[in-house]
Amino acid sequence: MSQPYQRPEDEVVRLRAELDDANYRYYVLDEPQMADVDYDRRLRRLQTLEAEYPELQSAASPTQRVGAPPSSGFTERAHAVPMLSLDNALDEQELAVFVERVAERLECSAESLEFCCEPKLDGAAVSLVYEGGTLSAGVTRGDGRSGEDITSNLRTLRSIPLSLVGDESGRSHPDVLEVRGEVTMSHSGFEQLNERAREQGGKVFANPRNAAAGSLRQLDPRITSTRPLEFTAYQVARIEPVVGDATHHELMLRLRDLGFRVSSQLELVQGVSGVIDYCRRMGERRNTLGYDIDGAVIKVNELRLQRELGFVARAPRWAVAFKFPAQEQMTRLNDVEFQVGRTGAITPVARLEPVSVAGVTVSNATLHNADEIARLDVMIGDTVAVRRAGDVIPQVVRVQREQRPADAQAIVFPECCPVCDSDIERLEGEVVARCSGGLYCPAQRKEALKHFASRRALDIDGLGEKLIEQLVDNDWVKTPADLFDLSAEHLATLPRMGEKSSENLVAALAQARHTSLPRFIYALGIREVGEATAANLSAHFGTLAALMSADTQALEAVDDVGPVVAAHVSTFFRQPHNRDTIQALIDVGLSWEESEVRRGPTPLDGQTWVLTGAMQSMTRDEGKARLQALGAKVAGSVSKKTHCLVAGDAAGSKLTKAEQLGVAVIDEQGFLEQLVEWEGELVRPEQQNEASGGRKDG
Ligand code: IVH
Repeated sequence: MSQPYQRPEDEVVRLRAELDDANYRYYVLDEPQMADVDYDRRLRRLQTLEAEYPELQSAASPTQRVGAPPSSGFTERAHAVPMLSLDNALDEQELAVFVERVAERLECSAESLEFCCEPKLDGAAVSLVYEGGTLSAGVTRGDGRSGEDITSNLRTLRSIPLSLVGDESGRSHPDVLEVRGEVTMSHSGFEQLNERAREQGGKVFANPRNAAAGSLRQLDPRITSTRPLEFTAYQVARIEPVVGDATHHELMLRLRDLGFRVSSQLELVQGVSGVIDYCRRMGERRNTLGYDIDGAVIKVNELRLQRELGFVARAPRWAVAFKFPAQEQMTRLNDVEFQVGRTGAITPVARLEPVSVAGVTVSNATLHNADEIARLDVMIGDTVAVRRAGDVIPQVVRVQREQRPADAQAIVFPECCPVCDSDIERLEGEVVARCSGGLYCPAQRKEALKHFASRRALDIDGLGEKLIEQLVDNDWVKTPADLFDLSAEHLATLPRMGEKSSENLVAALAQARHTSLPRFIYALGIREVGEATAANLSAHFGTLAALMSADTQALEAVDDVGPVVAAHVSTFFRQPHNRDTIQALIDVGLSWEESEVRRGPTPLDGQTWVLTGAMQSMTRDEGKARLQALGAKVAGSVSKKTHCLVAGDAAGSKLTKAEQLGVAVIDEQGFLEQLVEWEGELVRPEQQNEASGGRKDG
């Protein structure tokens, strides 16, 4: 990447442009292109250059996001234009009243009025000021007239441009721009943050809004920089030179060109029916967005009409917020039960008085672990706040202490596994308590088998959860290897198992016997080894024997494997019962192709490949790992430098682009054939063997 004969000033400019562009693609266009490692590498190179040549430093450099020292408090800053709130519409009737009232004031028909509709993002509102194209201030909403200056914290958000992007038409950026929007945290970011806090005893947040607001109020910007925050723009408060008779929607597109992320859910609609229809659809989509919204905001689109309508008290007459039902509800905690997971983790589960939360009845919620129970200070009989959002498991987030009944009971964490009675262990420094029974514990056995048979593991068709439960409860299956000894006659004696489905299952098992090394490694269910890590391990070591004998140091040399994963992998393969299970699987005929990892040049050295669309025979991670094992670099998007595009089913824009650029394209079948051929080249002929047991030890 570093080009030795480049002048440092040119390299600095190039690196900044590349980093800004990567951010823009990631946050604004939602089309990530640069891998995280490449981003980090460029950022480090830029840091080195700026340290070496201080005259090249700039406040707008991507290295300066986390530059400011911790402060002792925030200073207050007045808003040049007050930050108003919105009036609410609580139902469709009130939405209709809003539209009709606007039409009346403007003396036009309601049906001819155009509105820009947007999700009402549930986070923390901030205002960003750009002077001369660079970010000069970032302020919280405060009381609407003035807020806290949190510029140093906001600079750490990669979705906030430090300097404005010149737009496509070549127009320069505005002299002054004040942009307002919401800082939010996605559901996945929030879950990860809380998970980390639960493990390390940090602060657990009740919801993404609190997490976003709390993260912005950190006195040390370095802390804010580690929080998964995103800024989405929804309003231009000031722009100089002033724009004429544009629309709100046009301004949003202009913001996008200037480097801001705007909602992907903006829509222009007309009249009462258009507005109501949008709110209904957004309500249905609410749980699939991956971030919290608490309603929809409906804005008159024409800025000229907005000016004509003006404001009343603290809210504009040209906009209204349609509120969705709350994602948190109060209910009674009736009981707590303890579930045992695949790795033996004991999870306390709250049994609740059923309550409807944003349209879904919730009767169970997770309490995570003993520390969380202590943190919440929750007892059986308490009134608790339950939160659900998207696909996230419902959670108990708060307790109404004042309402605690006199007969409330303490929650007692069991000392023995509720399923197999083995001791429960809690390792030093770990939050999670685990059943020590391993595969002796039927609960762990069931979960391990479900994982083993799942689509991304051995993909055993017809072996569903219910059936696995019966097989374990009847003691027919103790280890995954036992599955392969099941006969159709035997299976057909189970309730709800016909002759045909029994035969199908036996056939599916026979087919699953031949698998791939990444799938096999994933199927073993090693802690923290997901599909991508399994693919990396397979690509790196090539054979199961090499993987099984690797020490933690060798394991840490694998892409994306750190000390924790390395320790889990090494511990797993050291356990005699795991080695026995693996041997038993090989004995019942499990097989896969193995490849020697060659040290010399590889067939695809120096080539860049791109994968797109869905493949039948492997996942994209698997394809990527196999290409990497052959020496190729796998990129996220097609460019002139792409050597070849693998186009699976429903390939879209990448395929079009490859065709436009004249990049070679192959389909799944062609790809498979090539892979087999090149992988053959990797393996020295005398070592080519089918790994039915493929253990090349000795
Ligand atoms: S427009 C003058 N648009 O809702 C109008 N607000 O009560 C300014 N909010 O504090 C607001 N999503 O933080 C607008 N798409 C959106 C919004 C939005 C969320 C928040 C905003 C404000 C509150 C209004």
